[in-house]
Amino acid sequence: MAKAFDRIPRRALARARLGALVAAALAPAVAMAQLAPDAAQAKAAETERQMTDDERFSMLVSLIGEVPSIGVPRDPRIPAEVDNMSAGYTPGIPRLGIPAFQSSDASMGVTNPGYRPDDKGATAFPALILAGSTFNPELSRLGGAAIGREARSRGFNIQLAGGINLQREVRNGRNYEYYSEDPWVSAVMASAAVGGIQGEGVISTLKHYTLNANETNRHWLDAIVDPAGHRESDLLAFQIAIEKSQPGSIMCGYNKINGDYACGNDLLLNKLLKDTWGYKGYVMSDWGATPAWDYALKGLDQESGIQLDVQQWGAEAFTDKLRKAYADGGFPKERLSDMVRRMLYAAYSVGIDKWGAAPEVDLAKHNAIALDMARQGIVLLKNDGVLPLAAGRKLKIAVIGGHAQEGIIAGTGSGAVKPVGGYAGVVKIGGAGIMGAGRNMHLFAPSPLAELEKAFPDATIDFDPGYTPAEAALTARRADIVVAFGIRVEGEGFDNVDLSLPWGQDAVIDAVAGANPNTIVVLETGNPASMPWRNKVKAILQAWYPGQAGARAIAEILAGKVNPSGRLPITFPESLEQTPRPELAGLGTPWGTPTTIRYDEGAEVGYRWYAQKDLKPMYPFGHGLGYTSFAYRGLKVEGGNTVTATFTVTNTGKRAGADVPQQYLVGAPDGKRMRLLGFERVELKPGESRKVTLTADPRLLAKFDAEANQWRIAGGSYRLALGKSAGDLQLSDAATLTGRLFGK
Ligand code: BGC
Repeated sequence: MAKAFDRIPRRALARARLGALVAAALAPAVAMAQLAPDAAQAKAAETERQMTDDERFSMLVSLIGEVPSIGVPRDPRIPAEVDNMSAGYTPGIPRLGIPAFQSSDASMGVTNPGYRPDDKGATAFPALILAGSTFNPELSRLGGAAIGREARSRGFNIQLAGGINLQREVRNGRNYEYYSEDPWVSAVMASAAVGGIQGEGVISTLKHYTLNANETNRHWLDAIVDPAGHRESDLLAFQIAIEKSQPGSIMCGYNKINGDYACGNDLLLNKLLKDTWGYKGYVMSDWGATPAWDYALKGLDQESGIQLDVQQWGAEAFTDKLRKAYADGGFPKERLSDMVRRMLYAAYSVGIDKWGAAPEVDLAKHNAIALDMARQGIVLLKNDGVLPLAAGRKLKIAVIGGHAQEGIIAGTGSGAVKPVGGYAGVVKIGGAGIMGAGRNMHLFAPSPLAELEKAFPDATIDFDPGYTPAEAALTARRADIVVAFGIRVEGEGFDNVDLSLPWGQDAVIDAVAGANPNTIVVLETGNPASMPWRNKVKAILQAWYPGQAGARAIAEILAGKVNPSGRLPITFPESLEQTPRPELAGLGTPWGTPTTIRYDEGAEVGYRWYAQKDLKPMYPFGHGLGYTSFAYRGLKVEGGNTVTATFTVTNTGKRAGADVPQQYLVGAPDGKRMRLLGFERVELKPGESRKVTLTADPRLLAKFDAEANQWRIAGGSYRLALGKSAGDLQLSDAATLTGRLFGK
């Protein structure tokens, strides 16, 4: 495999304007020894041939470290000298030069939800939904590389990063760990991060294969979807991301898909992923997602966190059963070898067997990457002229609620990162199920209040905790400007029941907006909020979970030091009534209740659904405001086997800024549908123009023909539109496509 860094287009880097930061972050810490696919496969086969069966079996499971909150003690099978435990440990085979396989979670940085009390903390990057909002794959790659270095410095050679489930359901508690509702955005952003991680010699994972779109009863959840629609949506995101980044491993999810568990799904693992797509790496289960040994026959290569399977399913260990089946002839030798070879292939192609000294970790540089992400991914949803606030004025600002005096919040679950220096605060929330005990509100310093004080040195700033609406209104009334924070801790194991803010915050915001017409709301949530006060406030900033540098980015955007450029990677509905499932099956049933969720929207996820049903959401996919304006002209679209669009973007305002022009399919001869075909983040000075060319992956124009088992483009005229968002299309053109069946 070529080093990931060799594949970064130089022009794109220049455009990303990260200057010295890029150069420094791109210098690989140590020379890598990554093998090309054929060489890696050959070496894997050669090593595997020399193994004993005991050695082979020893590779097929991983052990989770001690996690008191879920009742998992340290496992005696983990050697005493291993002092860097995290999500997974598989012993190495030193006589064959095979290192131990050690994984940690990494959605937002190298995690540590309690495993290593002495760990001094890692860079807490923004949530993946914010990374998605940057529409900047180069930044995603830089974030991945930083995570790769921090992982490697701790001895972790596998990162459980790459959450690529589509955000199908605005109540899904884990949407913050996923990039987008769109397959192309998700694939482009995730593959960049995987490339960044693997470029540092650390295996990366794409997860959770597939359709783990809800947390409700996730171990008992059957996700029902039309198979062709599945190919055009969630599976397409995986397919493209795999092609672009060759992740060493894929994690199968907890749920069932059309009746079969994801980790025991012959159709999706053996037939599609491995046979049809030719995936060469290994499939690991999610932690506690392997109730049966014969998943090994259905495509699962490694059982993860074996203790959790025992806890969950009361099962005798996977390998013990495999050994019995092996002895009885039910589990063939070729498959055992294949499982091991796939793991070794991942190891050799990424180079985890050839690590030199631990890399230098420059935390200041990593903080700068986290800050750049937050600056580019925070989305200005609404601005009635109040922003940016003039920093020089002697303003009286009231900062209300959201623990803004204490810190920035993050999502909860296995992806939780302990930042350098520890948390600014932890509020225990709790709840049912295995994730309940670890459901916490983690706060990162510095606080928004402190950063606002820095950004507005001439202002008088009063803080009110938002304890009651009446009390908050008193503070709001005395101020020129109100900055009200709305927070919602979302996370693993829980879906949101509705889109309101918890702890009565909607009433507090409503009261302060009533008391002061100059109210700005900053939302720290992992999903859209209902915002019943929306028409009463002057501006709304969607900050997601912006990570350890998030408070600074928020203050800089409010003060106009940074021109916001984030775009929504998920549609904000007017209400749940507009979404495909106003009622969410299983909500309110006890943990462990078998639940079926029908994803009848099929491929029509997010903005595609709104276009299909002619619905106008609250804020469309791709929406985001800034402090300058952009104009598009000269759209020309060429057809043939795919479409190539050319157009010019001009910054027509008075400030430098970034725009994300988006190319959509809006009309096809074989049925109504909308598809994002391409996007590019363009940074322009005032008056500056740039010509942009976008060529679509033809699968985005096609439908999947389940009978032919191929992609089908119907010949004829296709309508394309260039937009600022899915709801703001500016120019359109038509192109003729050649009818054809192609690909797999
Ligand atoms: C999550 C995975 C995670 C794993 C290991 C599971 O609970 O679903 O995303 O990688 O734990 O921590």
